[in-house]
Amino acid sequence: MRVVSGMRPTGKLHLGHYIGVIKNWLELQKKYDCFYFVADWHALSTKYDEGLDLKELSIELVKEWIACGIDPEKSTLFVQSSVKEHAELYLIFNMITPVSWLERNPTYKDAMQQPEYKKKNNAGFLTYPVLQTADIVIYDADLVPIGEDQKPHLELAREIVRHFHFIYKTEIFKEPKELLTEVARLPGLDGRKMSKSFNNAIYLDSTDEEIWQKVRAAKTDPARIKKTDPGHPEVCIVFDYHKAFSPAEEVKEIEEACKAGSIGCVECKKRCAANISKIITPIREKKNSLKNDEILDIINKSNKKAKEIASKKMEEVNKIIF
Ligand code: TRP
Ligand code: SF4
Repeated sequence: MRVVSGMRPTGKLHLGHYIGVIKNWLELQKKYDCFYFVADWHALSTKYDEGLDLKELSIELVKEWIACGIDPEKSTLFVQSSVKEHAELYLIFNMITPVSWLERNPTYKDAMQQPEYKKKNNAGFLTYPVLQTADIVIYDADLVPIGEDQKPHLELAREIVRHFHFIYKTEIFKEPKELLTEVARLPGLDGRKMSKSFNNAIYLDSTDEEIWQKVRAAKTDPARIKKTDPGHPEVCIVFDYHKAFSPAEEVKEIEEACKAGSIGCVECKKRCAANISKIITPIREKKNSLKNDEILDIINKSNKKAKEIASKKMEEVNKIIF
């Protein structure tokens, strides 16, 4: 079984990515033939005017994947724009995809409610799911790990595949299935959505001190003024982080101690930060030990492997059409 998934290279990874995506990727690479790629063309669909250094960002992203334990011996870690066949298949799919299908996409509809996107309304943003379809089906992917928000894109992918099959009287593509990541979304440390612009995320290359400073500043249960006040862990962000990163017994102990008013928030936060450090320290150290040249070698090898598969598929596609 083959797994294909991509990530846009828009900046450093944080704990939200780690529990939401990377942990899942780590599990999948044990069982499946995984293709994980840097979706640099997709990054351009919204950020074409931001002057991103996509080459640098792509190397950094793959470096972070490997630092997290994604194994380049097991998984194929490539860069989308290096496999031009994605663009070729995207072009073909654009020919057969009704604009109305794309306008129905919730991501697109939401964006059109926002003035900045509405003003741009670039074709590449509208056709984002068409490129995503090409990314997936060019490798005959069986499974595509994605977040809930990407579900409509997978539905569109299947529709485009069926449409292609109907038009050309063929069965050349696999209909991909989504693998939904079931984890609850990790909030930012201030309770808002985790985001670079809010400075409320913990990055995977943080030092212990940086981790502590972020956790220290987190909002807790406002009902707790004195240590002996009984707390409500269910409304506390620090507790969300405990649930995500502390061992189960410790989570239980903290929950009881908080409710009983027998643990202070500072101590609770220290333990939380320590558990986060245990996860991040090896990632940070591995990341710092990896050289760009090494990563480039890995990417080049993977690009070649991906290209071999993709170009075979495009040959078949072109035979059907021309
Ligand atoms: N759209 C995905 C995201 O924003 C990234 C992506 C691009 C992707 N192509 C893909 C994911 C193909 C899975 C399969 O998260
Ligand atoms: Fe939150 Fe911990 Fe304080 Fe309870 S003790 S309110 S869980 S920080």
